[in-house]
Amino acid sequence: MDRPIGMFDSGFGGLTVARAVIDLLPDEHLVYIGDTGRYPYGPRPQSEVREFAHQIAWSLVKEHGVKAIVVACNTASAAALDELEAEMPVPVIDVVAPGARALVRATRSGKVGVIGTVGTIGSGAYDRAVAATGVDVQLTSAACPGFVEFVERGQTSGDDVHILAERLLAPVHDAGVDTLLLGCTHYPYLAEVIADVMGPDVMLINSAIETALVARDQLSTTDLLRVADGTPAEHRFLSSGDISWFADLGGRLLGPELRDAAQWHHD
Ligand code: DGL
Repeated sequence: MDRPIGMFDSGFGGLTVARAVIDLLPDEHLVYIGDTGRYPYGPRPQSEVREFAHQIAWSLVKEHGVKAIVVACNTASAAALDELEAEMPVPVIDVVAPGARALVRATRSGKVGVIGTVGTIGSGAYDRAVAATGVDVQLTSAACPGFVEFVERGQTSGDDVHILAERLLAPVHDAGVDTLLLGCTHYPYLAEVIADVMGPDVMLINSAIETALVARDQLSTTDLLRVADGTPAEHRFLSSGDISWFADLGGRLLGPELRDAAQWHHD
């Protein structure tokens, strides 16, 4: 089917998922909305994040005719997934369940950690998703307020981010986890700093690839994959904030597919 896959995040974070989807499904058209005008979602009340998620999801369906929606944001998944699944006329794919499954598969010691925004960790979404796997693990969670702001400013290394990481990662570090899930789609851009603080024995899990695999399976079983016809896939990137900044930093984070960006307006 020739219609695009829709995807959204509060800003640049979902580009980690976009990268994985483009690499795994190179023939698929993609429309990505980064709500940079209203980021960060993490500290906002769940009801507000839910409202934003609905606005964006409906815009993807009505204005862009998407055939599926990937909620490339843990905070929005935690706040709005159930409602979106019930309400949207197209399949909705989230990042939380695929990440939780990858986490319990990877651990050897059974001591696992997840880090995310205040909204995601406070919602208990990962406690439920890990419990739903049925695997008996000991989960330690930590919210990392401030990480997203560093990524959105394009500052992914240096002393400031390192000092913050040492403080915020202390609970998962001290719990002795052997596997740590990056439960915010912005965090893979900070993987070097996080790996440095956690040490070489801790495996980091990035849910982007798992989510892309789920998207492929879901589109395949519902017969929605695009059949390549020789015309290249189109990748469109929209932002509710400054679009030249979105194109510039986004291009550096995602790669050459993000050459330019267009404005997205919410109601
Ligand atoms: N990237 C988003 C996530 O996965 C949230 C970032 C934000 O706080 O806006 O949770």
